[in-house]
Amino acid sequence: MKPINRELGTCYYPEHWPDDIWKDDAQKMADLGLKWVRIGEFAWSRLEPRETEFCFEWLDRAVDILGKAGLSVVLGTPTAAPPTWVLKKYPDMLAVDSEGRRREFGSRRHYCFSHEGYREQCSIIVRKLAEHYGSNPYIEAWQTDNEYGCHDTTISYSSSALKSFQHWLAKVYGNDVNKLNEDWGNVFWSMEYQSYDEIRLPNLTVTEPNPSHALAFRRFTSSQVSSFNRIQTEIIREYSSAPIIHNFMGRITDFDHFEVGKDLDIASWDSYPLGFLLDRAGATEEEKFQFLRQGDPDFQAFHHDLYRSVGDGRWWVMEQQPGPVNWAPYNPEPLPGMIRLWTWEAFAHGAETVSYFRWRQVPFAQEQMHSGLLQPDSAPAPGYFEAKQIKEELVASPMISSGSSDVAIYFDYDSDAAWQVQPMGKNLNYFQLVMDHYRAIRRLGLNVDFVHKKTKDFSRYKIISVVGAIHISSQLISRISSGKALVIFGPRTGAKVGNMKIPKKLPPNIDLVKSRIVRVETLPPNESLDIDPFGNAIRYIETLKLDSNASPYLKLKTGKVIATREGSGAIYLGAMVDRDGLIGFYQKLFEDIELDFILMPDGVRRRCTENEEFWFNYNDKVIQTKIGNMQPADVIRLRLV
Ligand code: GAL
Repeated sequence: MKPINRELGTCYYPEHWPDDIWKDDAQKMADLGLKWVRIGEFAWSRLEPRETEFCFEWLDRAVDILGKAGLSVVLGTPTAAPPTWVLKKYPDMLAVDSEGRRREFGSRRHYCFSHEGYREQCSIIVRKLAEHYGSNPYIEAWQTDNEYGCHDTTISYSSSALKSFQHWLAKVYGNDVNKLNEDWGNVFWSMEYQSYDEIRLPNLTVTEPNPSHALAFRRFTSSQVSSFNRIQTEIIREYSSAPIIHNFMGRITDFDHFEVGKDLDIASWDSYPLGFLLDRAGATEEEKFQFLRQGDPDFQAFHHDLYRSVGDGRWWVMEQQPGPVNWAPYNPEPLPGMIRLWTWEAFAHGAETVSYFRWRQVPFAQEQMHSGLLQPDSAPAPGYFEAKQIKEELVASPMISSGSSDVAIYFDYDSDAAWQVQPMGKNLNYFQLVMDHYRAIRRLGLNVDFVHKKTKDFSRYKIISVVGAIHISSQLISRISSGKALVIFGPRTGAKVGNMKIPKKLPPNIDLVKSRIVRVETLPPNESLDIDPFGNAIRYIETLKLDSNASPYLKLKTGKVIATREGSGAIYLGAMVDRDGLIGFYQKLFEDIELDFILMPDGVRRRCTENEEFWFNYNDKVIQTKIGNMQPADVIRLRLV
């Protein structure tokens, strides 16, 4: 990608403030050098207070004021927050959790993706907005809904979901329900169905449901999210040529983001590094303490790289934490300089825009303790000054090119679903496995790209890691391995065929791997097995029967082989491995293929673009590095000649 200008923005809620301060707000945003302002995504009760009573006059004025101040507006569709009248009209539109409890009104995201009436209601408000604002010159982008899946809201066990699931199954398997019985192995425990309307949702079963049933339900749910989103994108495109964005969330894997991404022009995600460190990054207790005010050194970058792939190169940070949040287990203040670091890191990974959530801290309701760029009294908060500094730095040196990568990791939401359906051990999950591999590669100072089922070109990579991909087709494997890349498979890649069945010839179901997995054991977190000569195998360990053309690549100290070099040249790694072990593993691979790397100091990360290197210090202390001392929260930008 050519070097481009990087922009800043903010999230603003005119409906939260008296209209006589809008003009001043807009002017201040422009003075700060912001380009983008996102509005409207929760304002349904003000846009349509009663059914068909549309009140756009206030939004017209807000858009006009913001636009005239020189800002570009992202208009959100308000469908994440249906007001009470929608509920009165459709009392059964509420999502239902796996315990069968209805999710009640009183916050947001309380809808079920499968409710036809709700879908219809959303089409009406989206069409009205698109008609009204489609040609407004200040509306330069759209956002659909808000954070699909946030607050565990993708999977719903409602009666609408049940009905739609039965239809979906009938479409997948055709008239003869026996095909489904066969595919799911329903002879087991007499689970055979005579017709589709006998099939229930896979919750509230006495013990675990059939994994094939549960996985089918997850696939159905995922397709409901993309079809829900598509209703909106198709309507908006009838009236507007402005790009359409969705703001995804950190570590939400309940639906296939690549599928939703296909209908978007730009992917974006909402980055809350301090909240994420404590509630989802998978950091150790020690790291939670070490990076309390800085965030996990890999979690943001992981999502930047993932969403670059979801957006096919075009992506933003739609919401960037500007100070303490209100929703994590603890809500510390960022170390001075971290807002700047997070922003620069996003730009270095290719973000076109970083937008701060939110402009001003709101003095009421659920998020009153969530910081903004301004305090509730409109005085600047610390984040404001960091944004100002970033803007000045951008003005001095605005053009940043994108980076490329020799290393790719395959990411597959369907595999995440399959792990969740059959984890084989407490807290074993796909996301963490992929994240561990990502961490190791970044610790060795290299850029990473995420590739997926629909990636067109695998030929530019030297190494591609395909770990934990439970279902993977032969066609995809041959596309992945058709280039020059050394391909790493496993653990659990190709472990199942069809809809969650063990392959006849035993796993892995990968043509390039002839060694067989004859057994799997999973271990509690405090048990580990020494690898010779570095690190430990942990948690998920396969027993490999080596093919005659395969040789051991990595062994435990006991002599048990945990990785093979196959006759085809591919590597199969049959275990989860701890941090040191994975760093050692990749170091060995990089040396084998003569790929340059640098072992980065703990908490220091680097991202290379075409003509620059960015170094980031996530530590709260001075760190010596090969490019000199780095101050806490330091960003060093080196131009390469
Ligand atoms: C995001 C959400 C915002 C706001 C923010 C608070 O998940 O999109 O609307 O709630 O969190 O951190």
